[in-house]
Amino acid sequence: MKDSISFKDFLYFYHWFKNFVQSFYKGKDEHDKWVIKLKYDHTLRVSKEIVDIGRELNLNTEQLFLAKTIGLFHDVGRFPQYEKYHTFRDAKSENHALLSVKTLIEKGILDKLSKNIKNVILKAIEYHNIRILPIGLDPEIDFYSRLIRDADKLDVLNVFVELYDNPSKLISTIELDLPDCNEVSEKIIEDILANQISNLTYMKCKHDMKLMLLSWTFDINFAPSLKRIKERRYIEKIISHLPPSPKLEEVKKHLLSYVDLKLLKDTE
Ligand SMILES: [Fe+2]
Repeated sequence: MKDSISFKDFLYFYHWFKNFVQSFYKGKDEHDKWVIKLKYDHTLRVSKEIVDIGRELNLNTEQLFLAKTIGLFHDVGRFPQYEKYHTFRDAKSENHALLSVKTLIEKGILDKLSKNIKNVILKAIEYHNIRILPIGLDPEIDFYSRLIRDADKLDVLNVFVELYDNPSKLISTIELDLPDCNEVSEKIIEDILANQISNLTYMKCKHDMKLMLLSWTFDINFAPSLKRIKERRYIEKIISHLPPSPKLEEVKKHLLSYVDLKLLKDTE
């Protein structure tokens, strides 16, 4: 049993993943193929992002391949989820992180790895979309869970910012089938102003998804990830797609100063 992941192991995982995704394209129309490709591309970008963040955190080669493997497999359940339910909304289908874990176990793809490393991968995947990480986790599981959560969030932010800039590409599935009303959730705004990640159940309209994405800022774990949020101007860009109001201006200022303050603390 292998206690670390080599380049060769990763290549094997990568080819398996590519073939696995390929199998979902069969018999699909152009729309469905586009949706599947969106998640496939997301996965590959997350595997890159997690390594980029990991490098800045001085991880060694073995640790980087472990991180990359978690990135590659974190959303593997998205493909059977869309196949079966035609939605990415977990509440209307099933928890896609648990579906990823179930898929990896069923396919036996991690079976040549040691029990310990397999457990770190599966737990980090299980925890990648949980609202709040449990306390008292094994330090390695805690670390890789935080790492995948950051990398995943950064890419989701990236995808949405690009889609908001090109609304013709925005489809209902991506916006979790939320209605197109003009209100913004006061509850999510309250959470943001209280430095809290908000609750998915507060999302009633499409705009709330933008607020929800903004609230993720409080669940970013590592300075290199926050630095990317600042450099890529995600906060300013998302707010520019919300109806202007003094309240939202306050939200923007609040978030930007939170990021600056956190980054400042990290350099102390
Ligand atoms: Fe996910």
